[in-house]
Amino acid sequence: MAADEEAAELVSAASDRHHLERMVARRLTGEPLAWITGSAQFCGLQVMVRPGVYVPRWQSETLARTAAGLMPPGGVAVDLCTGSGAIALVLQAACPSSRVLATESDPVAADCARENGVEVLLGDLGDTLPQSLAGQVDVMTGVLPYVPADGLHLLPRDVVAFEPRTALDGGSDGLHLIRRAIAGSVRWLRPGGWLLLEVGGDQFETVLQLFAAAGFQATEVLCDGDGDPRAICGRLGPVPEGTARPQASSR
Ligand SMILES: C[S@@+](CC[C@H](N)C(=O)[O-])C[C@H]1O[C@@H](n2cnc3c(N)ncnc32)[C@H](O)[C@@H]1O
Repeated sequence: MAADEEAAELVSAASDRHHLERMVARRLTGEPLAWITGSAQFCGLQVMVRPGVYVPRWQSETLARTAAGLMPPGGVAVDLCTGSGAIALVLQAACPSSRVLATESDPVAADCARENGVEVLLGDLGDTLPQSLAGQVDVMTGVLPYVPADGLHLLPRDVVAFEPRTALDGGSDGLHLIRRAIAGSVRWLRPGGWLLLEVGGDQFETVLQLFAAAGFQATEVLCDGDGDPRAICGRLGPVPEGTARPQASSR
């Protein structure tokens, strides 16, 4: 976000001059703007973001919108590793008749998502999802930690200093959680259900292979608003006739 836009957000969040000065002082330390103002915009929604919780990124908006566009009326969605619940909120807003569940391992983030109105199950990936959802999920999303452990120091200084390492660290090759999420998703998705995962720079080829090995078809790379590859979307086979291509919803 540009400096003048940040300044405008701080001014509008401040109750008075002293409050503004305190907020500016916090921002000067590198603390995320959303922790200071208490919220971030995501797909046009205002999402509450508590201190300590990963701030939803605009780069994840295409994934969220595409997932929303794939939801059938009255469908079931699961957002893995939901953080503040931003993606789950987009799904809920776009498909009010659907059931949207989220998972999260960090109690602070889980509480934050609940405050945002998301139904959150505290636990590791899909481990805490109810058995009754096996084979019933239409859309599963995830912006999981995917930064290789030895690349964490290359992230922007403020991110390294403030955002929780558990939200970022994807293990030695960045794919520790992504591998488990892909393998685990086939238990929850219905045949023809969709899995959308955000991935990083040089991970696409490997993750496309993981999708294929798990039985996903019609797999596509999604680009963010800058046109950079940002996520992978695949449909669990066997895919029904007349397969729709993934398209972002307007939300
Ligand atoms: C990169 S953040 C993304 C948060 C959110 N999806 C978003 O886009 O704003 C990853 C989140 O995954 C959570 N997380 C890390 N390991 C997890 C695990 N094994 N199971 C569930 N959640 C996990 C972190 O606490 C963090 O909130």
